[in-house]
Amino acid sequence: MLPRPLALAVLLLACAHQTVPFEDRPGISEGDLHTHAAQGGRRVRHVNLDLTLDFQARRAQGAVELDLFVPRAQIAGHGSTLVLDSQGLVIEGVTGADGKPRVWSLGPEDPRIGAALTITLAPGDAKVRVAYHTTDRSAALQWLAPEQTRDRKQPFLFTQGEAIFTRTWVPLQDSPEIRITYDATIRAPAPLTVVMSAEQLGRGADGAWRFHMPQPIPSYLIALAAGDLVFSPISPRSGVWAEPSLVAAARDELSDTESMIQAAEALFGPYRWGRYDVLVLPPSFPFGGMENPRLTFATPTVLAGDKSLVSLVAHELAHSWSGNLVTNGTWRDFWLNEGVTVYCEERIMERVFGLERATMERQLARQDLEKEMRDLEPWQQVLHPDLRGRHPDDYFSSVPYVKGALFLRRLEAIFGRERFDQVLRGWFDGHAFESAVTDDFVSYLGREHLERDPQKAAQIDLDLWLNKPGLPGDAPRDESPALAKVDAERDRFAQGAAAGSLDTTGWVTQQWERFIQGLPDTVSLQRLGELDRAFGFTASHNSEILCDWLVLATRRRYEAADGRLAEFLMEVGRRKFLKPIYTELAKTPEGLARARAIYAKARPRYHAVSVGTIDKILKWTT
Ligand code: BES
Ligand code: ZN
Repeated sequence: MLPRPLALAVLLLACAHQTVPFEDRPGISEGDLHTHAAQGGRRVRHVNLDLTLDFQARRAQGAVELDLFVPRAQIAGHGSTLVLDSQGLVIEGVTGADGKPRVWSLGPEDPRIGAALTITLAPGDAKVRVAYHTTDRSAALQWLAPEQTRDRKQPFLFTQGEAIFTRTWVPLQDSPEIRITYDATIRAPAPLTVVMSAEQLGRGADGAWRFHMPQPIPSYLIALAAGDLVFSPISPRSGVWAEPSLVAAARDELSDTESMIQAAEALFGPYRWGRYDVLVLPPSFPFGGMENPRLTFATPTVLAGDKSLVSLVAHELAHSWSGNLVTNGTWRDFWLNEGVTVYCEERIMERVFGLERATMERQLARQDLEKEMRDLEPWQQVLHPDLRGRHPDDYFSSVPYVKGALFLRRLEAIFGRERFDQVLRGWFDGHAFESAVTDDFVSYLGREHLERDPQKAAQIDLDLWLNKPGLPGDAPRDESPALAKVDAERDRFAQGAAAGSLDTTGWVTQQWERFIQGLPDTVSLQRLGELDRAFGFTASHNSEILCDWLVLATRRRYEAADGRLAEFLMEVGRRKFLKPIYTELAKTPEGLARARAIYAKARPRYHAVSVGTIDKILKWTT
């Protein structure tokens, strides 16, 4: 084995970084396995979307106009090809800027990455227009009936692009290595409001909604929602969109958003996207949040009533630097989006809410990671995984998130916080509006920082952190006094103290979670009932506490929670909650039967992302 500094030097040499000006890159690297655009041909730089939303047919119908780079060498040359990604779409026709048809063909549809739409360009073509409509296989779209919304009056639609779903509602080059600006014209039936991850230009005289995204973004960040939506401001550059009956509460819950933006700017540099708004979606939204630029999409389950879950906003906001400004070049480099973001989220939380809360959240995150990692295959435990033959979603776990963040915290410990803040700032500024891969990070770290300082370089084994399963021994550990207090009370309970005698004054969500998750597997039904009467867990409106409680209730066969469990699974589509509850149910034959009965009714209400995960857990076939 090489001594560490030498090993580092070898690793750095192996991935020497070359900068090629954006305009001169005709295709994209072979690195992104999840796009047909890697086959070569022209590259798209601007997208102009024109769609009509038909809620009866559950279909978006219209066209996309794509502006192309004409590489210098080809300006006077002959035509060439353009390769796009398309999945679950019906392509109606392709025309050039002259309005005349172009020859196109749709390749075979790969179940993971969809089909290649290959267009033969005419000489000088700098623009093509693809007419198309979506289908019920357009997984990015979730069309909701009025009953699936809070106010139950109007239907709702939202899109989810990450990782590779944008191609199911817009035919384009769906790679995080390709950045585009976009314009959109969207027609929706009155009285719906349409919002997008862009500047909102409002409604024209023709009734259509118009949008403009001036900053170049990867395609997975194109996003749209339409529904009965109203807006409430938090600060001049920030506010909340939600259904009318929720908007005031949502605004109050998220009132610290402006402070978070200011904290993030102090840490990571100017916020470069203009506005930062949050859209609170109906409960079937499959994620906690999605960092769509200028407009974070969020689950309503973040609204606990006491601001205890707003680290989610810190997280999505942090993506304005890690992810949206500097984007993972391929889905192998997902930790560069999520791990860096979790690190930044924790820094924002520490600045706005103090060290005690940040420490508590970090300790819980590590505990979740360690628990989850036990069930993951070795390839899923590495930060830079091999995704050949796999879908990006197969790699989804807390590994890129929490192990990624621990990696940065280890670097922070080596550099010292002040220096590391400069390192991180340099990473964001040096790669702003670009995509970057893991090797770029390694090379930046080495070239700019570690190579000059062998003493620091010797303190970190990059290969171990990036390419090996498990958690390295030097991963930082947190000890939260607030959680230690919980452990003491829980031990008292386990030794027979009455639930009502526990000192739980001032406990926040994270402490209740620690309490429930740490209850012994042998806790009796009678004692669960005692806890429930004292603390009202089954009736809790805090989604995190309720989810932990329902998992425990299922494990211990505490039937008093059965009704609430069915209700929760019918209402909420957030995968983070569905997964542990269905997994626990599936462990016994009775539980599995109950799960399948609920799922039969709930499945049509879930987003394709959640359906994909739960189908596997319940071995569901249609
Ligand atoms: N970008 C992710 C959501 C995502 C990841 C969607 C991969 C599709 C594919 C978002 O920023 C996120 O991480 N959301 C978390 C919440 C966060 C507080 C950890 C979630 O949804 O649970
Ligand atoms: Zn994220």
